[in-house]
Amino acid sequence: MVLSVQDNVDDSMSHPAKKSRHEVAGYDLYLHQGQKDVRDRLLNAYRIEAPHIFPAGHPIRGTNMSILPSRDTNYLVKIAGVNLELSEIMAWFERSRVDRRISKLHFFPSNGKIYKTKEELFAAITDPSFEVPKGPVRLSCTPIALAEELTVPLETSWKLHPKTFDHVLQVVEVIDEGFRFHIIPPQYFFRTPPTGGPRHETSKAMQKVEEALDVIGWTGSDNGETAAKTGVAIDLGASPGAWTQYLSRRCRKVVAIDPAALNPTVLALPNVFHIQKKAEESAEEMKAILGEEDCALGVDLMVCDMNRPPHRMLEIVKDCMHLVKEGATVILTLKYKGKGQEKKTDGGINILERMCPGMLEDVKVHWLLANTVAERTIIAKKAKQQQPKD
Ligand SMILES: C[S@@+](CC[C@H](N)C(=O)[O-])C[C@H]1O[C@@H](n2cnc3c(N)ncnc32)[C@H](O)[C@@H]1O
Repeated sequence: MVLSVQDNVDDSMSHPAKKSRHEVAGYDLYLHQGQKDVRDRLLNAYRIEAPHIFPAGHPIRGTNMSILPSRDTNYLVKIAGVNLELSEIMAWFERSRVDRRISKLHFFPSNGKIYKTKEELFAAITDPSFEVPKGPVRLSCTPIALAEELTVPLETSWKLHPKTFDHVLQVVEVIDEGFRFHIIPPQYFFRTPPTGGPRHETSKAMQKVEEALDVIGWTGSDNGETAAKTGVAIDLGASPGAWTQYLSRRCRKVVAIDPAALNPTVLALPNVFHIQKKAEESAEEMKAILGEEDCALGVDLMVCDMNRPPHRMLEIVKDCMHLVKEGATVILTLKYKGKGQEKKTDGGINILERMCPGMLEDVKVHWLLANTVAERTIIAKKAKQQQPKD
């Protein structure tokens, strides 16, 4: 079997001039993660065309997503026919924040060869006519056991190194599909940080509010520390303060309400005001902090992440809703006692309609990538008051 190097070595990014000889007809991506529910959420986000993950007009929309069986305990999602360069795929991956929930990402040219058996794959990779990369290579395999099996036959002619490498050999086995391999430059090698440390500037706790605001492309205020900030937010159930901290970057004023303490760093932020009480006992303080003008105008954003059952949380939120501007964004985490409980309340819509009829409009219940299995997030707007008819 003769295999030409351009079929399986992706150096178009490091040598753009070589691109034309590749003629890669897009890529098939294989996303690998440890949790079944993350896999299901991704598929759901794809089906509903969740705008923060699959934005309108983005080539990632015109693809084909499927869930694939894997031999190990991890889960594979395939996105086929992604008509983008590797650098653009990585940009989408980070922008959509899918990278936070995935442990491995493999790319294969859509028109690349699929080997039916492991023997065929091994024969291709070890074929003497195959142009082995000159520098050290890291192996990245799914399932992981493939890496051990490949190490011995490759070691004779390949320089394998797990830490210092110029290329990454990606190999994936998909049941019923076969084996694929592809060699990529190191800058496109993706893995979760080995220390489990933060990859992003936002902490895990922040990610829920960040993702929720992303879903609607919230532009209530400018982003960034130095930009002029507008908008006022109320954060119910704010301790220890990750959401408040995030909102403080985007809003002029954040009123954080929680009987528990705020993290001192968050408390020290000049535009953060903490009311250290239960929300249902804070009406006077909220008015005092907001001042006459903000009270009259209403706040631009109300968020609530308090750990109360949905019906209790909604009762509390309802009592604070008079402080919110009509049409302003409302983000509420629904926390269920266990996985599957959300189905009993129709994902939150029923309970909302029963307890707070007419309070919100444009209501959507999302299962964000940043939610836990037993959480959902309501993203809505405060409904406009019906004008009394004369
Ligand atoms: C999961 S934590 C919120 C985390 C927060 N979003 C963050 O980013 O750090 C839930 C919080 O809700 C608060 N809480 C529960 N009942 C509350 C109530 N009635 N009023 C205000 N806060 C409440 C708890 O004290 C707890 O700190």
